[in-house]
Amino acid sequence: MKFQGKYPNTRLRRGRSEDWIRRLISENNLSVDDLIMPIFICEGRNKIEKIHSMPGIYRYSIDKLGSAIKRIEKLKIPLVALFPYVSSNKKDNFGSEALNENNLICKALRAIKNNFKIGVMCDVALDPFTNHGHDGILKNNYVLNDETIRVLIQQALLYAKNGCDIIAPSDMMDGRIGLIRKSLEKNKFINTKILSYAVKYASNFYGPFRDAVGTKQLLKNDKKTYQMDFRNSEEALREVSLDIKEGADFVMVKPGMIYLDVIKKIKDNFKIPVFAYQVSGEYSLIKLGIKNKILNNDSIKESLISFKRAGASAIVTYFAEEIANQLKKN
Ligand code: PBG
Repeated sequence: MKFQGKYPNTRLRRGRSEDWIRRLISENNLSVDDLIMPIFICEGRNKIEKIHSMPGIYRYSIDKLGSAIKRIEKLKIPLVALFPYVSSNKKDNFGSEALNENNLICKALRAIKNNFKIGVMCDVALDPFTNHGHDGILKNNYVLNDETIRVLIQQALLYAKNGCDIIAPSDMMDGRIGLIRKSLEKNKFINTKILSYAVKYASNFYGPFRDAVGTKQLLKNDKKTYQMDFRNSEEALREVSLDIKEGADFVMVKPGMIYLDVIKKIKDNFKIPVFAYQVSGEYSLIKLGIKNKILNNDSIKESLISFKRAGASAIVTYFAEEIANQLKKN
C-alpha cells in the first residue's frame, strides 16, 4: 500500500462523521439484484407449513406457490432456488423419484415457468429422494461416484425440459459438470446455465435445511467422503478449476460466512462469477439472535455485505425476501 498521511493531516474519522459522507464513500453495497431466495415445496394442497428450526421460512404446496412467487417477483428478486420435501413412501436407495416427471420439482417448475418471468434454479443431487439422505447411490456405506452421475445427468435434463434456468449440481461427485454439460448441449439446451456447487464443505451448518427437506432423521453417518474437508482451502481452487474446464458458468461456495476467505481466494485466482450460499444454520443463528434480542436487525445486512466485500456476485439467502423488503423501504 502507498504512503498514508499522518495524524492530524489524516483523520480517517472525517470520512465517517455524517451519514451522507459514509454513503458517498462506501465501497460495497447490497442490492436486490444480489439476492437468490430458496423456496421449500411440499406435497398436498393448501399447505403453508412452518419449519421448526427456521423461523420465518415455510414449505408451500404447489397450489400455494404462486402467491409466494408473485411476492418475490414483485420485489424484483431475480432468482429462486427450489427444494422439495418428498414424502418418505417415495424414497428409495436410488432416489428414483428424482427422475419422475411429476415429482415436486417438475410440477413446481411448470407452475412457475408458465406464469412468471423470474429465474428458477434447481439443485441436482439425490438427497431429497433417497431413503438414506445421501446425495447419491449408496453401496456398502459408500456413495458411488460414476453410477450416481448417470442419474444426475438424467435429473438435470428432466429439470431443463421442465423449464429450469439454472442447473445447480450440489452433490460433489467428481466429473459430473462435464457430463451434465455434454448432455445439455446434445439436447440443445444451449442456454441452460450450470451453477456448480464447486466448493461445498461437509459442514455442521446444514442442520436446519435437512430438517426443512426431511432428510435429517434419515441421514446415516456424514457426507465427508464427498463434501470438502473444512480444513482445506487450496483444494477449493482445484475444484473450481476443474468445474470451469468442464463447463460451469458460475461457481458456488457453501457455507458462506465462515468461508469468506475461500470466496476471496477464488476471486483472486479466477475471473468467474462466484455465488455464496448463506446456509440454513447461518440463517437460524442470526434469526434466533434477533428474535431473542441478542442481535439487532441490522446484523442481517452486515452479514450479507460481507459476501460482497469478499467478492461474491450473488448470495443465496433465506433472508432474501426480508432484506429486499427493507431495501425497498429505504
Ligand atoms: C443437498 C443440499 C444441502 C443444502 C443444499 N443442498 C444439504 C446437504 O448437503 O446436506 C444445504 C443448504 C442449507 O443448509 O441451507 N444437496
